[in-house]
Amino acid sequence: MNDLKLYWNNRVQQVGHTGWMNRYVYTLDQYARLKVIRKIVKDLFDKTSIENALDYGCGIGDFSKLLGSFAKDVFSYDIADEVIKRAGQQRGLLSNIIYSSSEEQLNIRLETKRHDLILSITVLGHILDEMKLELILQKLKNSLSPNGYLVLIEFVAEKSDQNNYQKFNTSEKWSSLFKYVGLIVEKKYSMDVPNNPTGVLYKSLFSKLNVFLASKFDFMFLLLIKKGKNRIDNSNDFILEVGPLNIQKKLSIIILKR
Ligand SMILES: C[S@@+](CC[C@H](N)C(=O)[O-])C[C@H]1O[C@@H](n2cnc3c(N)ncnc32)[C@H](O)[C@@H]1O
Repeated sequence: MNDLKLYWNNRVQQVGHTGWMNRYVYTLDQYARLKVIRKIVKDLFDKTSIENALDYGCGIGDFSKLLGSFAKDVFSYDIADEVIKRAGQQRGLLSNIIYSSSEEQLNIRLETKRHDLILSITVLGHILDEMKLELILQKLKNSLSPNGYLVLIEFVAEKSDQNNYQKFNTSEKWSSLFKYVGLIVEKKYSMDVPNNPTGVLYKSLFSKLNVFLASKFDFMFLLLIKKGKNRIDNSNDFILEVGPLNIQKKLSIIILKR
């Protein structure tokens, strides 16, 4: 666990965030993910308000800020203290978000509040120990309010795989984990990932030429980001609704209930 903490602390010190190493890929892909999650939250809470929300594995707080604009009270936890420090530095004007890297504070929060919405965006795949993963999923589930949602973005792989900081579970593996802790899948979507582009939109955004130009020249970075954001704003091509069998190989957005 400590090795992983060190890994994320180093990563934030190196690139200023915890996402894709390439700043062009990170900026646009995070923009697309935020757009997708904003839409999902709006649809889920069309008629009800969000009292308590939690961002598990918040990184530098991109999704916490999104939660902060919807919910009254947000608790954002990350295992890595340097990452939380960075989140605090760029918290913006929202004063309803608490950032913490204290596991004790996290446990108190999970035990004393019921959450209408819990987000965990590309975090669970980084918990390599299966028992720890089951335990945290159980705690997150227990802390959901009766009508609450747990919304995840995770990789779903055709074949299980693992490196020193990430595990790639199959659809069957994720399903059995959710079943084991008593979480019910309400809906799944999938979206393309920059390094495995199949969708039309993503193919053009992350072509080798664009990535090269944006990493070489600052003015090209700014120009391509502007163009890319514009295309994302005006397209839904990168998100597909999927059934249980064709969820493979992509980044999946999974909406769960208790
Ligand atoms: C790929 S980053 C995603 C960050 C953020 N959710 C986002 O999408 O911008 C994964 C984050 O999970 C955190 N993390 C890794 N293992 C964790 C754990 N066991 N509990 C909480 N956070 C963890 C890392 O420190 C890192 O900030």
